[in-house]
Amino acid sequence: MPVSLILLAAGQGTRMNSDLPKVLHPLAGVPLLVHAMRAGAVLGPERVVVVTGHGAEAVAKAARAEDPEVAVVHQAEQLGTAHAVAQARRALDGVVGDAVVLYGDTPFVRPETIEAMLEARAQHAVVVLGFEAADPGRYGRLVMAGDSLERIVEFKDATDAERAIRLCNSGVVCAQASTLFELIDSVGNQNAAGEYYLTDIVAIARQKGLSVGVVRCDEAETLGINTRAELAGAEAAFQARMRAEALDLGVTLIAPETIHFAQDTVIGRDAVVGPNVVFGPGVTVESGAEIRAFCHLEGCHVSRGAKVGPFARLRPGAELAEDVHVGNFVEIKAAILDEGAKVNHLSYIGDAHVGEKTNIGAGTITCNYDGVFKHRTEIGARAFIGSDTMLVAPVRVGNDAMTGSGSVITEDVPDGAMALGRAQQTTKPGLGLRMMQRLRALKAKKSEG
Ligand code: UD1
Ligand code: MG
Repeated sequence: MPVSLILLAAGQGTRMNSDLPKVLHPLAGVPLLVHAMRAGAVLGPERVVVVTGHGAEAVAKAARAEDPEVAVVHQAEQLGTAHAVAQARRALDGVVGDAVVLYGDTPFVRPETIEAMLEARAQHAVVVLGFEAADPGRYGRLVMAGDSLERIVEFKDATDAERAIRLCNSGVVCAQASTLFELIDSVGNQNAAGEYYLTDIVAIARQKGLSVGVVRCDEAETLGINTRAELAGAEAAFQARMRAEALDLGVTLIAPETIHFAQDTVIGRDAVVGPNVVFGPGVTVESGAEIRAFCHLEGCHVSRGAKVGPFARLRPGAELAEDVHVGNFVEIKAAILDEGAKVNHLSYIGDAHVGEKTNIGAGTITCNYDGVFKHRTEIGARAFIGSDTMLVAPVRVGNDAMTGSGSVITEDVPDGAMALGRAQQTTKPGLGLRMMQRLRALKAKKSEG
């Protein structure tokens, strides 16, 4: 049965006290909205609709960056959650199957939970995701009659008896898309907030004789972000979970509490990660690789047997083949390092290809930027780049070639050649000593006078 997603992301998020729309605040390196989109994407949705409002352009851009197929609809005025869902009607025109409503500010809902809801649809026309709240606060309350959900009452409209109910509404709901829009047509705004509540579809469905069911999940899953403090708390919870998962999967984390993961970090079994390592988005580390202390990795791939750091930075497009070594104070960007290549000290390698078993000496820099354009450096296999070589791109150094230390290489170096691009050394016998004596005498005279 095909499924479509409707992600509500129009709210301002006033309590974030931010110019950035709430759903674009990052959690584990990716916007809150993207967490919800990725959870939904696991279901292989037919269509995905994002409802924007505040900061619509930026929200649309982030949504499209994650999924170029996404339909973005605009809710000019935030008149309530039912009104927000109604904006998706045109975008879902003609789809068959179910629609699931998710919130852009609720990043932890698991795909398995949404799947359980879709399964429960076999018994019920509408399925709501509920949870037992430790402190139900201002959540909507689920009013049950046995196993049947009769209605949802919003906190503002609830009686004291209803407020005493601990079973709360997460906001996630699913129904056949056509049913959902039909039910929304009957929603009014005669309530304490003067809003069109999506939650009213439950009572409307019951009046029409439709069955409504509840799937329950852990409260942590439905956590919504409203403040910076909640965002920080969610980040901590997420990191704790990622660390535990990595350990379970057989990754050695020497000081787990100091490792920072991104939402999509993938690390293979028996990889070793030293203290204080930060993984930005898009990192994969193969089995048996070692990431030493104080490294920062983003958008890169580290193969089996490779050693990185301490104090290395791998930027987007860094691809390290097996047994590559990248040492301290080395930055790699958009560069492929073939098997067994070594860049061990104080280097910048960007927009480059380094052949297998090539050794890059300390302090080597690929001068890839002329102020306007970026240029490539190609280095062959088994080459030896002398310390402090400036490789002025575009430039090519052949297989088995060498460059002398301190060279500025501006012309291609053929296979097997040695290139020296530095001033000729001159040596004056005795001059060092004479110079020093003269300077010392001058200093003595000055301190007397
Ligand atoms: C909603 C539910 C409540 C539930 C709670 C869970 C309703 C009426 N109430 O309340 O039962 O316990 O979520 O967190 O649905 N949004 C729009 N456009 C709008 C209004 C909201 O896009 O016009 C978006 C918001 O950006 C947010 C989500 O919908 O992502 C929920 O809206 P919010 O105002 O936070 O609803 P709550 O009052 O928390
Ligand atoms: Mg809310």
